[in-house]
Amino acid sequence: MKIPVKVKRFDGEKEYIDSFEVEIDDKTTVLDVLMHIKDYQDPSLSFRVQCRAAICGTCAVKIGEQHYLACKTKVKDVLQNGELFIEPASNLPVIKDLVVDQKEFLDKLKEAKAWFVPKEPFEPVYPEELKEFDKETDCILCGICYSMCPVFQTDQKFGGPINFVKIYRFWKDKNDALKDERIAIADKNHITSCVHCKYCTFSCPKEIPVEQDIMKIEFYGKQKGLIKQQEEGFGFGGFSTPFGF
Ligand code: SF4
Ligand code: SF4
Ligand code: FES
Repeated sequence: MKIPVKVKRFDGEKEYIDSFEVEIDDKTTVLDVLMHIKDYQDPSLSFRVQCRAAICGTCAVKIGEQHYLACKTKVKDVLQNGELFIEPASNLPVIKDLVVDQKEFLDKLKEAKAWFVPKEPFEPVYPEELKEFDKETDCILCGICYSMCPVFQTDQKFGGPINFVKIYRFWKDKNDALKDERIAIADKNHITSCVHCKYCTFSCPKEIPVEQDIMKIEFYGKQKGLIKQQEEGFGFGGFSTPFGF
């Protein structure tokens, strides 16, 4: 069947909505639609794509109130009133059309030392221990959790959910040398500004329990006196969620 497709575009100066029509079937993904438009209707449409297999994390877009990997998402699952409306990911500056500038969250990841710092001597990690952070190793840096998070509206210094997933992943690894230094980094990144809305958890394409990880870091950090309450945080209430609660 043929469906109307709207894309929110930006040409460097102005924003506008462009309209197309694309033939889809039950298997057509949002990325298929974008590629069809680029190949057959408007070669100037810009978006990011690499792996087409939900691995590289480059193709995140906003549809309705949610964010999705375009290559993993079937159009039939995200139609609204028979129409597909695609927007660039939120919370990041738009460069062109659906291409956003990821520098901000990549810089925050650098500040958070989001990489493995090996300790000596190296110890074997047993399956039971790996379970504690195995899920978090699946993070593909797609930024969807970052785009879903409401905290940036009030606290620009908030590290963001992606940042805390990385902190959690390495903090739980017994071969990581930084250990509690990572919890102090979470404090510097205003972890207590999180309002525990769980948007990050519900939207993560890799089903990482992001908000639960944040709770665990906060709980430990407060007990150890490594985390203090931020004043910039805001209460969770008065705004509706994209998840119907
Ligand atoms: S649970 Fe916290 S980090 Fe996740 S989206 Fe909500 S406020 Fe942001
Ligand atoms: S935690 Fe999930 S949503 Fe966030 S960047 Fe990683 S894979 Fe993407
Ligand atoms: S193109 Fe790589 S995750 Fe979608």
